[in-house]
Amino acid sequence: MNRGRLIALEGLDGCGKSTQLEPLAEALRAAGHDVVTTHEPTDGAHGRRIREMARARAALEPAEELRWFVEDRREHVAQVIAPALAAGRVVLTDRYTLSSVAYQGARGLDWREILAESEAEFPLPDLALIFEIAPDVGLARVRARGAPLEHAFEREEFLAKVARIFRALPCAYVARIDAAAPPDAVAAAVRDCVRERLALL
Ligand code: TYD
Repeated sequence: MNRGRLIALEGLDGCGKSTQLEPLAEALRAAGHDVVTTHEPTDGAHGRRIREMARARAALEPAEELRWFVEDRREHVAQVIAPALAAGRVVLTDRYTLSSVAYQGARGLDWREILAESEAEFPLPDLALIFEIAPDVGLARVRARGAPLEHAFEREEFLAKVARIFRALPCAYVARIDAAAPPDAVAAAVRDCVRERLALL
């Protein structure tokens, strides 16, 4: 058995996890690992539908929204994540199960139930890095990227709920990263964490 490793990068919008994905992948490759980087929502049919609906600001019921993300993840695991793990590769995914737990939990669903169902169905992450940032700081970064931010106040309130769930997660595979630090310091903290938790670096 030469199962690979699964590392999920999670956090609020604007937390900087996407910026940290490639530097971590490079560090792991330099250490001799075969690395795959990927993301959710995916670029597959379900992921595209999710983005279209978000652009159209279509209001989905929380349970239906969850179903879309789970469908997208099923395809992602079957086509990308499980084969890579079976081949002994290190998979870095920008968002995974804990995004559904925190975001769809913040929409009013029972986050403990989403967590239990996710852990029953999908490969457990070996490590889930949660990039912690205050909602207003994350939103300011999203705005600085030029993304239009309507309903900013409601968004901030919503993200505060998401953050509360991320903070409450009891999973042993979770590690928390201070994402308010400068990018180089965050990158170093990420490498330290991967070294300590998984001995891959
Ligand atoms: P994001 O990582 O911001 O993707 P991109 O930068 O490619 O647009 O994710 C898009 C949004 O989807 C983000 O606000 C979090 C949300 N999301 C959920 O609500 N549930 C989920 O299960 C996932 C994977 C994402």
